[in-house]
Amino acid sequence: MKILILGANGFIGSHLSEAILNHTDWEIDALDLSQDKLGASVGRKRFHLKLGDMTQEKDWITEHIKQCDVVLPLVAIATPATYVQQPLRVFELDFEANLAIVRQCVTFKKRIIFPSTSEVYGMCTDTAFDEESSHLVTGPIHKERWIYSTSKQLLDRIIYAYGKHDGLSYTLFRPFNWFGPGQDTIFNPKPGGSRVITQFIGNVLRGEDITLVNGGAQQRCFTYIQDGIAALIKIIENKANHAEQQIFNIGNPFENISIRQVAEALVTLMKQYPKYTEKVNQTKLMDMSATEYYGAGYQDVMLRVPSIKRAEEKLGWKPKVDFMTGLKKTLDFYLA
Ligand code: UGA
Repeated sequence: MKILILGANGFIGSHLSEAILNHTDWEIDALDLSQDKLGASVGRKRFHLKLGDMTQEKDWITEHIKQCDVVLPLVAIATPATYVQQPLRVFELDFEANLAIVRQCVTFKKRIIFPSTSEVYGMCTDTAFDEESSHLVTGPIHKERWIYSTSKQLLDRIIYAYGKHDGLSYTLFRPFNWFGPGQDTIFNPKPGGSRVITQFIGNVLRGEDITLVNGGAQQRCFTYIQDGIAALIKIIENKANHAEQQIFNIGNPFENISIRQVAEALVTLMKQYPKYTEKVNQTKLMDMSATEYYGAGYQDVMLRVPSIKRAEEKLGWKPKVDFMTGLKKTLDFYLA
C-alpha cells in the first residue's frame, strides 16, 4: 500500500510515519515544510519526503494523489489561541487548503482518511459524545474560537456528502486531546502558543508560573499518542472494510481529568528530575480569566468525553496507556 501524508512532520504525522515504517510494509510519500520531528524515518527506503508548502506544491500533490492508495491530509493549525487571534489563517489552511485535497480525492477516486476533531462537538452536554447522535454545539460568531470547530465540521459534512453522492471512500477520525513526545515546542513563550501539556512544561522550564484558565476545572480525556496511532493504523489497514465511510472518536474516556489535575501531576512528576527540582519548587499555579488569557473571542469546553463504542466494535481498538504513564514518557522526551 502507498500512503500520502501531507504534514508528515507534525505531531501525528511524525509518529504515524515511524509506526508505519516499523510495523508495516507500506510505502509513504510525505510532504512538509520541515523534517525536525521525523528523526530516523528520513532516509528509510520506504519513506519519500518532499520539503515544501502544501499551499504552493499543488502539482506535486496532484501527481502524488494520483499515485497513492490512501491520502492523509494532516496539515492544520490546532492551537486554540490561534483560532482567536488569527481566525482567517485557520479558515484558509484548515478549511480551504484541505478542501482542495478532498476534491482531488473525489476526482481521482482515492481513499481519504481525514482528521476531524473532538472540537466539532463543542459545548455538547452529552455525558459521552457519540459520532452519530450527539449534537455539535458552538457559540455566537464573536466567539472566534469556534472557527476551527466549524471549519472541521463543514469538511466532515462535505466529505460525508461526497461519500454518499459520489462514492468517495473515507474515514473521519476525531482525536481527543492526543498528547506525547513532540507535540508542540516547549520554547514558545506566548500564552496559549502550544497545547496545554507542552505549555505547562514550557512554563516550568522558563521559570514562569502555570496559568489555570478560569481556575482549571475544565476536563479533557487525554489520550497518549501511541494509542491514537494504533487506532490510525487499524483505520488505514481497513480490515473487512470496517472503517469505510465511518466516523471514529479516538480518545481515552478512562482518563477524564481536570486541567488543574494536569498541572498538579506535572509538578509532582517534574520533581523527580533532579535537574529541574529547584525550578518546579518555585512554580506556582495561578488562576486567570479566559478573557485575560485568550481574549474575548474565547469560549471553553467544560467536559469532553468520547464514546469509543464504535472504535471498539469496528476496529477492535481501545486505549491502553494511562495518563500518568503517558505524561512520564512525555517528560522523558522533553527533559532528556
Ligand atoms: C484542543 C485543540 O483545539 C486541538 O488541538 C484539538 O483539535 C482538540 O482540542 C483535541 O486535541 O482534542 P483544547 O483541549 O481546548 O483544544 O486545547 P488546549 O490548548 O490543550 O487546552 C486545554 C485546556 O487547558 C483548555 O481549557 C484551556 O483553557 C486550558 N489551558 C491551556 C490552561 O488552563 N492554561 C494554559 O496555559 C493553556
